[in-house]
Amino acid sequence: MTKIIDLKDGITEELKEAATALRNGSLVIFPTETVYGVGANALNSEAVSEIFISKGRANDNPLIVHISDFKDLNDLVTDINEVERRLMDAFMPGPFTIILPKKDIIPNNVSANLKTVGIRMPDNKIAHELIKLAGCPVAAPSANKSGKPSGTRIEDIISEFDGSVSYIIDGGETKVGLESTVVKVIDGVPTILRPGKITPEDIINIIGTCKIDDFIFKKAVGVVESPGMKYKHYAPNGKCLLVYSKDLDKLKNEIDKHIVKNTVVIGCEELKNDIKCEKYLSFGSIEDLDSISHNIFKLLREVDRLNPKLIIIMGVAKTGLGIAIMNRLIRSCSYNYIEV
Ligand code: TXA
Ligand code: MG
Repeated sequence: MTKIIDLKDGITEELKEAATALRNGSLVIFPTETVYGVGANALNSEAVSEIFISKGRANDNPLIVHISDFKDLNDLVTDINEVERRLMDAFMPGPFTIILPKKDIIPNNVSANLKTVGIRMPDNKIAHELIKLAGCPVAAPSANKSGKPSGTRIEDIISEFDGSVSYIIDGGETKVGLESTVVKVIDGVPTILRPGKITPEDIINIIGTCKIDDFIFKKAVGVVESPGMKYKHYAPNGKCLLVYSKDLDKLKNEIDKHIVKNTVVIGCEELKNDIKCEKYLSFGSIEDLDSISHNIFKLLREVDRLNPKLIIIMGVAKTGLGIAIMNRLIRSCSYNYIEV
């Protein structure tokens, strides 16, 4: 049985009950500022293995460990260098994960046998209090069945996880809507393994340099820095095509060429009356990347309910937060991408 706790209007005593269960080995789904997470006590390998079962997740895909205080780090990682320290000071708490060398106390199934662990301090009151009350680090992947878009609102989470976790905490729709930026410092250079709200420019502003992993827009194969990049992800059930042009007229014309009977288009507010299709789902203004990032996973789920023959998604420029949006969209379309 899953207990759903509604904390949309503020934290109540019920959070303590969920935190105690979490500490004692139960799974608790909780909100963060990015997406919801399926949490387990990160020091309890049996509880952690339940996460993999509940999501249908591959065992070689490591989990991020969530903390509420920098003090918690001493027990978890062996070493933090100067560049890592400066990144953490700048972006934590926030939508940012840093890969650090792990201590043995972290079970091997958390890190999928890697010598490193992803550490994140969410900037969300409920997540912060939950981790603090539990008194343990919390391993948590995004709350979605493996391959599906990450959960950003409660109805999507209940439909996938009701009955397979002990608690679901409702904190309303998540703010950012895309998962955290994952960064590993390699030879002194911050390297983005998964783009997110913290952009390359944000990192350059602090450190002066930043690399982006080769697999951000390409299909990853073999040994990769971030195992999550190998897997099918964010995909609706129907066939998807991603189309981008920096010129809105060209973009419209290209989309028109591909429309067949029963096509749903996910695109910008500016073109919503210009494209003739079965249904048009607007992700917000093309100028407003925050709104697109906030809405995109929700729309990728909504589109499934319409059961379309084809889903056409409009792309955005690959700059700033647009890098993270395009990283997710290219994967949701299984690399079926046209740029004109
Ligand atoms: O915003 C987020 O990061 C959300 C919330 C719940 O915190 N979590 C999340 O976790 O997105 P997950 O498991 O869905 O994605 C974690 C990503 C995966 O691509 C994984 O391969 C990568 O981080 N990762 C985790 N630990 C790693 C490590 N030690 N080395 C390299 N990549 C790692
Ligand atoms: Mg995920």
